Amino acid sequence: MSTLHVERTGLQLGQGPVALFVHGFPLDHTMWSAQITDLADIATCLAPDLCGFGATPHDGSLKLSMERHADDLARVLDEADVERADVIGLSMGGYVALAMWELHAERFRSLVLVDTHAGADSPLRRDGRDETAEHLQQIHRAAFAREMLPKLVAPDATRAVRDELTSMIENTPVETILAGLRGMRDRVDRSGLLASIDVPTLVVCGELDTLTPPALSEEMVRMLPHGELALIEGAGHMAPMEAPEAVSAVLRAFLLGRARA
Ligand code: MLT
Repeated sequence: MSTLHVERTGLQLGQGPVALFVHGFPLDHTMWSAQITDLADIATCLAPDLCGFGATPHDGSLKLSMERHADDLARVLDEADVERADVIGLSMGGYVALAMWELHAERFRSLVLVDTHAGADSPLRRDGRDETAEHLQQIHRAAFAREMLPKLVAPDATRAVRDELTSMIENTPVETILAGLRGMRDRVDRSGLLASIDVPTLVVCGELDTLTPPALSEEMVRMLPHGELALIEGAGHMAPMEAPEAVSAVLRAFLLGRARA
């Protein structure tokens, strides 16, 4: 099992709470750059690159399952000698956070699910993953990034955000993208798990997210015993990058107000 590259900002370990930021697909920890800067005065922020993404090398696995990433994240906490963290996951990062709840619930102080949902892929979506994988072997990653971008951001997203996302996607190795698609395609439905989440839970969603629209977030909040919803005005699926100040503000209020151990 690989050791993940982890970007660390904020308080010295042991001086306050630890926030663990889990990126989406096919991205890396830099998608959280604004939040790990903005929250550095109230938490130790750990932002890992999952296996194969960003600065963490791919270990050759043909499938990168949500459970495998979840185990890797528990190991990140072990290595930092952190018992419990505020786990914050966007999209695929949310699928991983839910797998982590299933496997390592004792490591959570709170949970934040951002632009994500708890269900499995529909049969149509599973087929779509296979088609994307096949297609990716024929086209360059730059073309793949161009196709993905409109689904990730709202129409008004800035050029800078689009460029950052494009470069993250283009820098993700093809073998990681393929293994990631297989992992997401085969992930299980974790909707039934939501009722067991007994820590404070914040659900954040860009109001213009078309990949995981607000209705899915509202549904999760109804199923969560301690869930609350924050909709981010004007943002799409990549709310933390498209509306960094608004997302940092809701995270700050949640972490300060709701999740004190
Ligand atoms: C992500 O943003 O992590 C992906 O869009 C998730 C997915 O494809 O299901």
